[in-house]
Amino acid sequence: MKKKTALIFGITGQDGAYLADFLIKKNYIVHGIKRRSSSFNTGRIDHLYQDPHEKKRSFILHYGDVTDSISVSQVIEKVKPDEIYNLAAQSHVAVSFEVPEYTANADALGPLRILEAIKFHKLQDKTKFYQAGTSEMFGKVQQTPQTEKTPFYPQSPYGVAKIYAHWITKNYREAYNFFACNGILFNHESPLRGETFVTKKIVTALCKIKFGLQKELYLGNLYAKRDWGHAKDYVEAMWKILQQKYPDDFVIATGQTYSIKQFIGFVADELKMKIKWKGKNINERGFYKNRPIIKCDKNYIRPLDVQNLLGNAAKARRQLKWKPRYNIKKLVNEMVNFEIKKLSYK
Ligand code: NAP
Ligand code: GDD
Repeated sequence: MKKKTALIFGITGQDGAYLADFLIKKNYIVHGIKRRSSSFNTGRIDHLYQDPHEKKRSFILHYGDVTDSISVSQVIEKVKPDEIYNLAAQSHVAVSFEVPEYTANADALGPLRILEAIKFHKLQDKTKFYQAGTSEMFGKVQQTPQTEKTPFYPQSPYGVAKIYAHWITKNYREAYNFFACNGILFNHESPLRGETFVTKKIVTALCKIKFGLQKELYLGNLYAKRDWGHAKDYVEAMWKILQQKYPDDFVIATGQTYSIKQFIGFVADELKMKIKWKGKNINERGFYKNRPIIKCDKNYIRPLDVQNLLGNAAKARRQLKWKPRYNIKKLVNEMVNFEIKKLSYK
């Protein structure tokens, strides 16, 4: 049987790496787009690398950028994939306040460029398209828990850009009969999570503090709540979305929500550290062995923040037969063990 071909934009990121692993295990030929960078940016996928001289490779990288229409168009024409996963984005919400125009270019116009390239090369009957949508689109939530029907109310340039991406995906589905789908994914983490997202930042810092390698951890809003899952579970949902008979949009979430402070508690429990909290607001501090190790820094407070996210993935459970294998404790356990192993190699 002929192998299916997938093209992943954003293959060097957390989800791209898990998705590439997943698809290779499913016997796909996986193509990925990487950006030119002055330092290595392929750490998460180096284990998949195959020498270009090898015949019949199942993992092939191409240079490209979703802000560059020609590179997007050329690679799509060359690969003619069965499935495209658009995971490429400036994905940091706080950073989107600093670089809003770039965020809109990559996160909103990026998927438009991909959809236009599919159309231009007349591939819409062959190529299915997945867009990496986000619970950030719900922002100032209008309903709890959030479902596919909950109205959007974004709270950041990132959220606003992703809403354009959501609607343009739906628009190409309805206007041109594309098999184009939106996953509306709630936060998902893993050992491969970028270092500046809050879960990874907390895990790394508390492990280092426990082993005397770091003194303090500075954070912003401790009371925001997130519905955190594991990236490995969530990339499986992406694939399932594209295997349906008809294109559609799905919320992917665990249905459990915790505050940043509660997440710190889970990590501290895993490390057998007892943390006592004192003070209020920006002066709130977390003490370990009578030393203040967690402090609040106003530089990490966003101009606007999404306060509460909680997803209802009933549609995905019913139609995709998807459910998460990880709960918060298992996720934290894996992230902490990974970090400790890394520290003990240093
Ligand atoms: P990530 O780790 O930040 O990865 C983002 C990927 O996009 C990286 O490969 C990055 O390349 C690439 N990229 C950034 N700008 C690009 C550009 N202009 N052209 C081409 N590639 C570009 O993000 P993630 O956590 O894996 O998330 C994957 C996608 O899902 C993103 O679109 C994100 O917005 C969305 N999402 C994530 C979550 C979550 O909780 N993780 C939830 C909902 C939706 P470099 O490695 O070179 O930077
Ligand atoms: N990053 C960060 N750093 N966040 C902090 C910090 C800190 O020092 N202190 C508190 N927070 C709070 C943020 O204000 C936010 O309310 C929450 O922790 C989560 O922040 P992030 O981990 O940066 O994730 P996010 O929820 O803003 O965005 C992630 O999830 C979205 C899905 O809801 C990203 O992966 C997005 O790309 C994704 O779409």
